[in-house]
Amino acid sequence: MDSEIFRSAKILIVDDEQAMVRLLELLLEHVGYTNLRSTTDPREVLECCAEFQPDLILLDLRMPHLDGIQVLKQLEERRADLYLPVLVLTADVSRESKRAALEAGASDLVTKPFEQTELLLRVRNLLEMRFLHRDLRRQNEALEAQIQERTHQLLEAEKLATMGNLLAGVAHELNSPLSVILGQVGLFATTAADDSARARAREIGEAAERCAHIVRSFLTIARRHPPERGHVSLNLLLRDAVELLAFELRIDNIEVQLDLESDLPLVWADGHQLKQVAVNLIANARQAMREASAPRRLSFLTRHEVQSRRVRIEVADTGPGIPPEIQARIFEPFFTTKPEGESTGLGLALARGIIEGHGGAISVESRPGEGARFLIELPVETPRLTHGEPETFEAALPVPGKTILVVDDEPAVAALLAEGLSRDGYKVDTAANGAIALRKLAAQNYDLIISDSGMPVLSGPELYLERLRHRRCPQFEHPGIPRADRGPSAREALHARERQACGATSSTRDGLTRRARQVHVPQAVR
Ligand SMILES: Nc1ncnc2c1ncn2[C@@H]1O[C@H](COP(=O)(O)OP(=O)(O)O)[C@@H](O)[C@H]1O
Ligand SMILES: [Mg+2]
Repeated sequence: MDSEIFRSAKILIVDDEQAMVRLLELLLEHVGYTNLRSTTDPREVLECCAEFQPDLILLDLRMPHLDGIQVLKQLEERRADLYLPVLVLTADVSRESKRAALEAGASDLVTKPFEQTELLLRVRNLLEMRFLHRDLRRQNEALEAQIQERTHQLLEAEKLATMGNLLAGVAHELNSPLSVILGQVGLFATTAADDSARARAREIGEAAERCAHIVRSFLTIARRHPPERGHVSLNLLLRDAVELLAFELRIDNIEVQLDLESDLPLVWADGHQLKQVAVNLIANARQAMREASAPRRLSFLTRHEVQSRRVRIEVADTGPGIPPEIQARIFEPFFTTKPEGESTGLGLALARGIIEGHGGAISVESRPGEGARFLIELPVETPRLTHGEPETFEAALPVPGKTILVVDDEPAVAALLAEGLSRDGYKVDTAANGAIALRKLAAQNYDLIISDSGMPVLSGPELYLERLRHRRCPQFEHPGIPRADRGPSAREALHARERQACGATSSTRDGLTRRARQVHVPQAVR
């Protein structure tokens, strides 16, 4: 133990004999103890303890007014809280007296006249115990605080996971009918005879796209919609987002301040998603600052944290700030303090889903009256190389004559996909689940399988694994969302290979036909 701790240990001496007090003081000072206090009146012990907060008490047994045993009883309550050792010094060597002192709570006993070295050793031992207790207590307190914090985090995570599952479930159910609407409208628009019918189809299509956008937001919150990554300049992205809301910011007299690091590395991220985060943060800041007096300032900062290979973004405003009691809740889906109908409470939940989906973190710092500062950290990742993929999706052209098997338990979706793909010149076959698909695959070779994920009998992931087992897996696409209730091994295996062979693609007909072209390009080139 550090001897400095011992030197500054507080020792209280209680003895009615002034000469004994002096002797003890001299002895202790001689070996380096510097923090000593004494009293010859045992009635003052409690007051001395409250004021001096000793680490050890040296206590005489025989004293007028109050004897040592009574003093020990008085100290009981104080000593219960944290181990406070009492070393009893007594001239009474009788067994009864020793037993009485120990029963009353003495930590140790030394008989007078004492041997100096023995007394000092006992003092040191008791102090050592005291400090060990103190350290243990500190560690316990820190651990308890940590447990409380973790429990809170767990509860939060559980709540979010439940909410996420619910959102993902609803989104999943909506996805199939939505892709039918979008697909049918798309087909109708290309075949409609007159302009007015085409205009109506376009309007239906736009409304359905809006719905699809909401569904995608839900999936992003639930982190079931993986980012579609590319090289993104965060500085440009922030400038873009500000530009997008420039008019609104100007009419609310909000000054924008940009402190952007000039050589910020590009991040490997989904630019659309990150822009959505920026726009949400700006919109919130603007709404908050409407209640604040001038000057209204919105500041952006970007920094490259070279050591941790992360980039940091800060978005700060001079609004009213966020009360501490709601800071932990603002990232929850549907949490809002704004009037009903004016907001959804999804902005920050979506931001968190996106940032965490990128392996980053988002947090807030705010004191009431001093504005709010949102902090985002993103890893600077380098993309994994995939071979055989064309530079852009758009460059790929259909490869007529190739065969495709569409596996989907919803006949309307399967038919729609088949129709779209047939128009590109593909030969298309359909199967209502994985088992039927396997039978068809045994009888015939296909160049591409497009499969839903959640299906009765044999799911998409199971079909994929089954094909892998037979080492006969043509390109494999699953437009559906992997459902949370799939067996973990199948899901993990699917995810592990997802980027390589079976991209989880958008469920729109256009997205799939584009993807069909893309996976066929290498064959066409060969
Ligand atoms: N910049 C900010 N200043 C003060 N409060 C904020 C700020 N940003 C978010 N909040 C608080 O967080 C809540 C949740 O925000 P959000 O998820 O975007 O939902 P919404 O904006 O629809 O309410 C807001 O209702 C508001 O109380
Ligand atoms: Mg918002």
